Amino acid sequence: MYKQKLFALFSVCLLGACACGGAADSAQEGEKNMNILANLSSNPMAGNFDLKRRTVRLNSGYEMPLAGLGTYALADKTCESSVLALLAAGGRLIDTASFYGNEESVGRAVRKSGVPREEIFVITKLYPTQFARAEEAIEQALQKLDIGYIDLLLLHHPGRGDVKAYKALEKAVAQGKVRSIGLSNWYIKELREFLPQVSVKPALVQNEIHPYYQDTEVVKYIQSLGITVQGWFPFGGRGHTGRMFSDGTVASIARAHGKTPAQVILRWNLQRGISVIPGSSNPAHIRENLQIFDFELTEEEMKQMAALDRHEKHEWY
Ligand SMILES: NC(=O)c1ccc[n+]([C@@H]2O[C@H](COP(=O)([O-])OP(=O)(O)OC[C@H]3O[C@@H](n4cnc5c(N)ncnc54)[C@H](OP(=O)(O)O)[C@@H]3O)[C@@H](O)[C@H]2O)c1
Repeated sequence: MYKQKLFALFSVCLLGACACGGAADSAQEGEKNMNILANLSSNPMAGNFDLKRRTVRLNSGYEMPLAGLGTYALADKTCESSVLALLAAGGRLIDTASFYGNEESVGRAVRKSGVPREEIFVITKLYPTQFARAEEAIEQALQKLDIGYIDLLLLHHPGRGDVKAYKALEKAVAQGKVRSIGLSNWYIKELREFLPQVSVKPALVQNEIHPYYQDTEVVKYIQSLGITVQGWFPFGGRGHTGRMFSDGTVASIARAHGKTPAQVILRWNLQRGISVIPGSSNPAHIRENLQIFDFELTEEEMKQMAALDRHEKHEWY
């Protein structure tokens, strides 16, 4: 507990130092960052988002890149080349899962890339079918990835034995095998039941979030607990992206900023205090999806985006 508090104090000082360092940069960039923070000011996570460093300080004390690559549906060589494209483009955040069957490919790309391990942040997940033998499943993930440690390990869905499995995650943190832990597809009711039963607060919750499914109440609830929110299916998932990119509101905001609809959607997420992991196997798209730190949606544009919500979930969980 004492150690955690010291870490929190250290984080605050470090963020303060970053803010001071910003004074040396161009006035224009400083002003842009101030505006962005002002827009985020009603958001309890604002203090932890550092748009200059492009990272968020998780409640575990670790720093996570705000934007990266999701690898669902990317198999074998395609997964490996996509992760390599991300790392070559300066991206450092990768989301995988035991369920995606591509942890080996992710690990191979990380090792091949030549980028120092400490700079890279890898998220993986245990599937409910693994909960009964969670400790064994953690060892398997470590072996498949073969990158020394896991930056963030999530439970993929609520399920039978999830509390016990989470306790195995807590143990793996104490053993230094895993740095941060969290949940995926947990909503308000599930969190209210789950949190009193565990010792370590999840660092992050990863849920479906896109312009047609904004889940604002859940996002605010999670953020109010000091937990970082990450969105999956930022473009609605495969089969929905065309409709989302050609949405009149998204397209017109994109034109106004000289950006693509994909970049507008990702940027909108960041300004809501939400980290993004778009999926792509196209190196040009992977590069494009990282170029979201040099423009800002106005308050009016954020309102227009908010008005797109249709509570339209694209997956059942
Ligand atoms: N925790 C969970 O339960 C859960 C569930 C689902 C997903 N996820 C995570 O969330 C990640 C994102 O979801 P997703 O990959 O399924 O869907 P998504 O990111 O919403 O959409 C991916 C689609 O968008 C296209 N795309 C990406 N960038 C683009 C760009 N700049 N311009 C045009 N098209 C672009 C991709 O095609 P190209 O390949 O041609 O670029 C792909 O078809 C997953 O990869 C996974 O890591 C987690």
